[in-house]
Amino acid sequence: MSLVPPVPITRREAIRRTLLFSSSLLAANWLPAGPAATDFGPDGMHLLAFGDFGSKNENQAAVAQAMARFARQLRRPLTAVLALGDNFYGRMVPERFERDFERMYDAAALPCPFHVCFGNHDYEPVSYGHSPEPAKWEVQLDYARQHPQSRWKCPAKWYALELPQAGRPLLKLIVLDSDVQEGALTPQEKVAQMRFLEAELAKGTKAPWTWLMLHHPPFTETTKRRDNPAVLRVVEEALKKHPISVCLAGHDHNLQHLKVDGYGASFLISGAGGADRYEVNESRRGFTRMEFGFNHFHLTPTELRAQFINVDGACLHAFRRFPDGRVEVLT
Ligand SMILES: [Fe+2]
Repeated sequence: MSLVPPVPITRREAIRRTLLFSSSLLAANWLPAGPAATDFGPDGMHLLAFGDFGSKNENQAAVAQAMARFARQLRRPLTAVLALGDNFYGRMVPERFERDFERMYDAAALPCPFHVCFGNHDYEPVSYGHSPEPAKWEVQLDYARQHPQSRWKCPAKWYALELPQAGRPLLKLIVLDSDVQEGALTPQEKVAQMRFLEAELAKGTKAPWTWLMLHHPPFTETTKRRDNPAVLRVVEEALKKHPISVCLAGHDHNLQHLKVDGYGASFLISGAGGADRYEVNESRRGFTRMEFGFNHFHLTPTELRAQFINVDGACLHAFRRFPDGRVEVLT
């Protein structure tokens, strides 16, 4: 969906766009993977995204190293890294911030803020004990508050940012807490978050791109999971009434780019940051891959390019999207 009025197009262009949108091409997982693109010229903003990374194992380290390697090859500053939740699996001792975040993600290669959202594992108690103890999300908020010099940025369970480029807002990022399951967000918090989301969208923005970022995907092609109606209820009105270009989630430990009937947004899942991978369906809705990796985004006012990159630095899938909602698959 786009608020931009449609531009008249020729019949030939209409056929071309139909091909670009075709599910079979979007789902063409057989296309050969080449090295990720790193030459984007001097303009625009670069972001990385990854999720479900807090596994403190060799897979987390492999993705972290691949992100750092890619960032060095880019030779352009990263504006931010988007951390899509399930940030710490297992017991949450304070040293983990230093070992599993500050040192794990090379500060020289990735010197930018990491904007964080919370996943279901971030709602677990810190040591799984029976006595009252804080949840992992609480210590993550505290860490961000007490360490303003850290790249770990997490001001609240839900928040919004405008990321500027050359002095102008380029991306409005609305970060949500999709933990609507029993024992996570309270009924009052759910109402407050919906009001926040409505208010943020009503405010409008000069940024040409507006994204939603949350942990649980409303739509998925993970074999053991289904589309999530409870999460869709949180974002549905926003997606249907506002020109949101990307809905970015994790939770499913794989990589996906889906086009869903009735919605204009690109639905991306980047939950392959370290936790054991989940199998994917081969789907008519788009690209799905059971592989560790992360996303790179390059944004300018007129184009968004996205790459899904594995731990070897190969680009598994790439597309570009235009402000009028057109999507073109590149790889
Ligand atoms: Fe999760």
